[in-house]
Amino acid sequence: MDAKTFRQTYLDFFKSKGHAIIGGASLIPEHDASVLFTTAGMHPLVPFLLGEPHPAGKRLANCQKCVRTDDITEVGDDVHLTFFEMLGNWSLGDYWKAEAIQMSFEFLTERLGFEPDRLRVTCFAGDADAPRDTEAADIWRSLGIPQSHITFLPKADNWWGPVGPVGPCGPDTEMFYDMDPSGPPDETPESNPGRFWEVWNDVFMQYDKQTDDTYAPLDVKNVDTGLGLERTIAILQGVSSLFETELFQPI
Ligand code: ALA
Repeated sequence: MDAKTFRQTYLDFFKSKGHAIIGGASLIPEHDASVLFTTAGMHPLVPFLLGEPHPAGKRLANCQKCVRTDDITEVGDDVHLTFFEMLGNWSLGDYWKAEAIQMSFEFLTERLGFEPDRLRVTCFAGDADAPRDTEAADIWRSLGIPQSHITFLPKADNWWGPVGPVGPCGPDTEMFYDMDPSGPPDETPESNPGRFWEVWNDVFMQYDKQTDDTYAPLDVKNVDTGLGLERTIAILQGVSSLFETELFQPI
């Protein structure tokens, strides 16, 4: 599946699940001095994640071009880019963890044909700011992901946001694809990141980080997800580096 078909497959899937397809925003953020570039699909949506009603409704999806300068030291391996495309779906106070995870799983396994056995997931381990996300892990187990393929990790790994110093954020659950299923069964995304490619992140945005570093609960709970276009098509195309996909080969 080429990138163009994949982009459309994602948007069509979420349209079929009641999402309005909105356009991507400029790479240079408008009305936002907290960062120089749009770093994630959620970034242009910050006012709506903080409670302003979105004109297109409570279920949104799009494809957003992103620049992540903080990944620049990772560039040179098979999977990191500073400029990439992120496919995202959002719930603004509509669905929550169960539906978000179920849709991610359905898209990966039924639409893209990823074997469930090759998926690994991580969930937030909990700390003084927010509890351990046993709810997300229970949902993954109910979909057939065995406990041995679920890892709990701290905020450094399983928490998204805010983009700048303050704003919406929350625990997340990340999905990884096993590039070497014949490898040692006890390896995890943490112990061997080259083997397990992170493809998708479902963030459960329920906090607003304050200037004093405390986390105030948001009035409404939102879902923010990001699926990496280049990594996913590399997997679909059976290549072991993003640079072997049709997006980079002509260069
Ligand atoms: N905002 C989340 C991320 O960029 C989905 O990983």
